[in-house]
Amino acid sequence: IAADMKGMKTGKLRLAVVTTAKYFVPRLLGMFCRKHPGIEVCLKVTNRANILERLANNLDDLYVLGQPPKEIDVIAETFLENQLVALASVDHQLANEKEITPKRIVKEPFISRESGSGTRIATERFFADQSLKLKVRMELGSNEAIKQAIIGGLGISILSHHTIALDAPAKQLIVLDVKGLPINRHWHYAYPAGKQLSVVAQVFLEYLQQASQLLADVSCHYGNTGHCPLLPNQ
Ligand code: PGA
Repeated sequence: IAADMKGMKTGKLRLAVVTTAKYFVPRLLGMFCRKHPGIEVCLKVTNRANILERLANNLDDLYVLGQPPKEIDVIAETFLENQLVALASVDHQLANEKEITPKRIVKEPFISRESGSGTRIATERFFADQSLKLKVRMELGSNEAIKQAIIGGLGISILSHHTIALDAPAKQLIVLDVKGLPINRHWHYAYPAGKQLSVVAQVFLEYLQQASQLLADVSCHYGNTGHCPLLPNQ
C-alpha cells in the first residue's frame, strides 16, 4: 500500500495467451516488468480452445488471442498484426516458384496444428472458402515442432509469421509465394464483459497499446511493404 501511494504499482497480473503469442508477449513483459518492478506476472500459454475455457471461467485478468470468441461476451480490441504465411524448407520444390495457387498447395503433404488451435481454424477456413481441402500428413501441437518437421522435409504448413521472425531456424525455412496469402489477422486482447479490471491489469493494457506500436515497427511486414527478408528472389 505504501508503494502504491508513491505511484509504484504492485500486485499480481494473471495473463493467459494463445500458443503463438508466446513469440512476442514475453518480450513485451520484459519491458513492462522493468518499468513496474512491483508487479508479479503469471503467464499461461495454451491453445485457443483452452484460452476460451479459461475466459469463460474468469480465471485470469487478461487474454491474448487471434480472434475474439462469439460465444462468450467479451471486451476485445486489436493491438498487433498477425499474418499467417505458408512455410516450406529452403530446398522444397516450390521454394522459388511465384504465385503458387492454393490448388497446388493442397497437393502437398501438410503439417497441421492440433484441433483447438486458432491457426488451424483460420487455415482451414482459407482453403474451405475456395472449396479446397488440405492433405494433412501429420498433426502437431506446437509451432516449434511443426517448424522442425518442415525442415525435416515432412511437408509444408501455414503458421503465423511471428513463429519465424527473429529466429535461428528461419534460415532453413522459406515463406512460399502463395496467391491469397498471407491470411491477415490481428492479435486481440480480451476480458469478460462486465469484469472490473484490477489496477495492475489496466496499467498493463495501457502499456500494451503503446508497446505494440514499437513491436509492429521491428517485425517484418510481409505483404505491406512487399518485402520480407525470408522471401526468395528479392
Ligand atoms: P493458436 O492460436 O496458437 O491456438 O493456433 C493462434 C491464433 O488464434 O491466431
